Amino acid sequence: MTEDHAEIIDLPGGVRTPPGELPALPPRRGDTGAPGNGAPEASPAGGRLHSERSLRDGPLIVCDNLVRIYKIADLEAVALQGLDLVVEAGEFIALVGASGSGKSTLMNILGGLDVQSAGRAVVAGHVLGEMGRRERTDYRRRVIGFVWQQTARNLVRYLTARQNVELPMLLNGIGRREREARASQLLARVGLGDRGDHRPERLSGGEQQRVAIAVALANQPAVLFADEPTGELDTVTAHEVFDLLRSVNHELGVTIVVVTHDPLVSEQVSRTILIRDGRTSSETLRRRALSEGGDHHVISEEYAVLDRVGRLQLPRAHVEALGLERRVRLALEPDHISVWPDRDRAGGSDSDDGAASPRGANDAGRRP
Ligand SMILES: Nc1ncnc2c1ncn2[C@@H]1O[C@H](COP(=O)(O)OP(=O)(O)O)[C@@H](O)[C@H]1O
Ligand SMILES: [Mg+2]
Repeated sequence: MTEDHAEIIDLPGGVRTPPGELPALPPRRGDTGAPGNGAPEASPAGGRLHSERSLRDGPLIVCDNLVRIYKIADLEAVALQGLDLVVEAGEFIALVGASGSGKSTLMNILGGLDVQSAGRAVVAGHVLGEMGRRERTDYRRRVIGFVWQQTARNLVRYLTARQNVELPMLLNGIGRREREARASQLLARVGLGDRGDHRPERLSGGEQQRVAIAVALANQPAVLFADEPTGELDTVTAHEVFDLLRSVNHELGVTIVVVTHDPLVSEQVSRTILIRDGRTSSETLRRRALSEGGDHHVISEEYAVLDRVGRLQLPRAHVEALGLERRVRLALEPDHISVWPDRDRAGGSDSDDGAASPRGANDAGRRP
C-alpha cells in the first residue's frame, strides 16, 4: 500500500503488539467469545489494553497554554486562547461547553489532525507540535484512537464491519491471523459478534458507532478521543454507546476523552471539564461516598480552574448574579478570597447596603 493511499484511508491507530503476542481482550460478560477464532481465552487482568508509554510516570496528556488562531482572509478567529488541561492515564473525562467554545479544535490538535498556533501539547510522550509527517501518521495509527460524531466518517462504507476493524491493523502491518482474531474479539467486545459481515449501511447508527469504537481500539491505543460520538443518536442508543465507552475504560484501562452535549452523560464520568471561550473554565469532580445510612451516593463538586499565572474564569451565573463588570474588588481572607462588584463604577451608592466596599489597596484585606 502506498504512503498516499495509507494517508487517505488513515484510521485511528494504536501501539503495535510484537508479532505472536496477541493482546488478550477480556471477553464481554456473558460472552463466550467468537467460536473458532483461535484466540486465547483472556483473563481480565492480563487483558488490559495499554501502551508502554501510558505506564510512564506523569500525566498522559498535558496541554499548556494552547492557542489556536484560524486566519480567514483578514479575519482571525481565536478558537483556543491559552487552554490548559492535564489528563492522567486511565481517566475517563468529558469535555463540555457551548457550540463554538473550541472543543473540536482541541480534539483535532490532540488527535494529530491540526497543529496549535502556540503553546504545548504532549500526549503519551509525543510532543504534538513537533512531529514530522511520518511521526504524525504513526501517532494517529498507533498511539490514539478517534471516534467522530458522523458515523459515515468513522467507517469505510464499502468495507464490512470486520474489514473496518482489521484495516488499522493492516496499516500497521499486523499479520492476517492476528488481525482476524483480534477483530473477532473486538466485535464481540462491542456486542456485534454476529454483525461482522455487514457493511455500515446495514447497521443502525448505534451499531456503527460501536464498530467505530472497535476500529479505534484495534491497535490498542493509549487514549481514545471521541468528539460527540453520540451526537447523532437517540437518547437510549446514546447511553448504550456511552456505557460501552465506560466499560472499555474500566476493563481495558484505555484513557478516554469524550466531547459531549449530553448532561446525563457528563454526569457519569469522574471529571467533567467545561470549555468556555477557548479555555478550560471549570471542572466538576465526582466521587462516590457512603452516607450515614450506608447508601452510596455521588458527590459532585465544581471547581474553577486556575491557570499557571493565577487567572481564573468566574462562572457566568456568578458574574451575572452580582452584575460584575470589568473590575472587581478582591480581599484575601484567612482561608479564602472574596470578590465584590466595583460598586463605584457600577454607579450604585455604597450606602444602600449599609457598608462601604473597600476603596483602596489598604482596605483590600477587610470585609466591606
Ligand atoms: N477551520 C476553521 N476555520 C475557521 N474558524 C474555525 C475553524 N474551525 C473552528 N473555527 C472557529 O473556532 C471556534 C471554535 O470552534 P470549534 O472548536 O469547532 O468549537 P466546538 O467544537 O466547541 O463547537 C469557533 O468560533 C469556530 O467558528
Ligand atoms: Mg465541535
